[in-house]
Parts: sequence; C-alpha cells; structure tokens
Amino acid sequence: MAGADEMLIIQTPEEMQRWARERRREGRRIGFVPTMGYLHAGHLSLVEDARRRSDVVAVSIFVNPTQFGPHEDFSKYPRDEARDLALCRAAGAAAVFLPAPEAMYAPDASVTVDEGRLALGLCGARRLGHFRGVCTVVAKLFNIVLPDVAVFGQKDYQQAAVIRRLVRDLNFPVEVVVAPTCREPDGLAMSSRNVYLSGEERLRALGLSRALQAAADAVADGPADAEAVRRVLRETLEAHALKMDYAEVVDAETLVPVAQAARGHVALVAAYCGKTRLIDNRVL
Ligand code: PAF
Repeated sequence: MAGADEMLIIQTPEEMQRWARERRREGRRIGFVPTMGYLHAGHLSLVEDARRRSDVVAVSIFVNPTQFGPHEDFSKYPRDEARDLALCRAAGAAAVFLPAPEAMYAPDASVTVDEGRLALGLCGARRLGHFRGVCTVVAKLFNIVLPDVAVFGQKDYQQAAVIRRLVRDLNFPVEVVVAPTCREPDGLAMSSRNVYLSGEERLRALGLSRALQAAADAVADGPADAEAVRRVLRETLEAHALKMDYAEVVDAETLVPVAQAARGHVALVAAYCGKTRLIDNRVL
C-alpha cells in the first residue's frame, strides 16, 4: 500500500484510470472521497471512513463548475490546494485526483446525467441545474476513479439520496456510504462555506442546528403536525436573523414532505446568513 509520503497527485482522467486499474489488478479495494477542496475535519472523517472500508483511498479535489448557478459562488469558492494536499497526505490518502476543468469537460460536452425525482425539491428547486451538475460529475468521477466504495457526507442529505439513486438506476458497481455530519463544538455543521462568515454571522449561523434541534424536540414525545414543525424551523431561523430558503420535513427515502412529522423523518433547512447560503439537516 502507498505510504503517507508516497501520495500521488494525478491531474488527468487517463492517468487516474491507469492508477485505478493497476490497484484493481493488485486486488486492492479502492475507497473514494469526492470533494471540492478547502478540506475541513468533516472531509477528513470521510477519508478515515473510506480507509476503514478499503485498501487504498483516492480523494478528488475539483470545484465542479457545472453544479453552480450563474449567480452562485463558483469563482469565489474557497480554494487552497497546497493545504488540501498536505491534509490528504496526513489523512493517509494514496492518491489525489486534481484535474483542471479542461481535463474534465470538453468544450462541446453534451451528455449530462439527470435524476428526475429526488432532485426536484429542496436544493434542487432552489438551485436549478445543481443536481444535474452533481450527477454528471459524480458519474464521471466514478468512471475515472473506478472506486469500490465512495463515501459522502450526510450534511448534503439530498445529494447523498440522489447519488444513491444514480448508482442504483445506472448500475454503477460502487458501494455508497453516507457518513454522519461533523459539527463544531457548538453544533454548526462543518462546511467549506463557513469561511465566508463574519464573527457575528458565525454566531447567527447556529440558528440552523438549533432549528433542527427544536424540530427533533417537537417529535420527541410522538408524532406532531408537520406544519407546526415547519413553523418551529422557520421561527428559529428568523430568531437568528437568518433568511430562510427552505425549511422542510420529509420522508427519509423519498424526500416527499410529510403531513405528520415523526421520528425517522428528516428535517432540512437552507438559509442565508448574510450572503452565505448554508444548509443542514437532521434525522428526527
Ligand atoms: O459534495 C461535494 O463536495 C460535491 O457536490 C461533489 C460530490 C464533490 C461533486 O462535485
């Protein structure tokens, strides 16, 4: 197995596929953690999880332009390649796939992948085209990295559900693992976008995890009217001066909004804290 100091940095899909085929020929199980970089402890916990489930781990670092809308933060999305590579090395990754956008998308690329059910609501309704970009790049990354197992974070609950469906419906021979959200000690879900927050915004951002806690409390003693739970979510966001994008309670599998909220359902929130859009969720 490649040692910590032998981590390879691979920049082209062809080279990455060659690496993956070689590992497979050696009978090694490939773990994969796709990321957009600016790594934090949450990402590193995914790498750790992938290491436990495989023999060699590849991490991809690619700020995928096709999953950002025209008015979103693609150009200012935080990047720190040198730090990311050092973190991957320390976390024991065997290879990092770090492609240039030109290496990933031909100028006349014309094939995309769409999920037509789970991707429609929540973030999909608010960020048109987002999940087409995610599905397309994840399908490409699976074909490039040839993983046996891929680990995603529960922080992006809808994304994880959409990717599971992508894998099921297109028969990707990849096991999808969804690992728990990593949180700061005060409850804020770790996110690369947290770096955008000012000191005062950072405090108000706690409104997301507090809203989810309030939703969990609301169903702790038994099912509750979902509209009342949504109101609790909205009011908690508002109390922290967050601008709600959505606040939902849905079925954990279908992501369809429920009428009666109960344990096992999922509460999801998206809200603007200043200019920064944050998301979080919690299985009730
Ligand atoms: O979750 C992310 O960071 C991205 O959506 C992913 C899965 C790496 C695809 O670009």
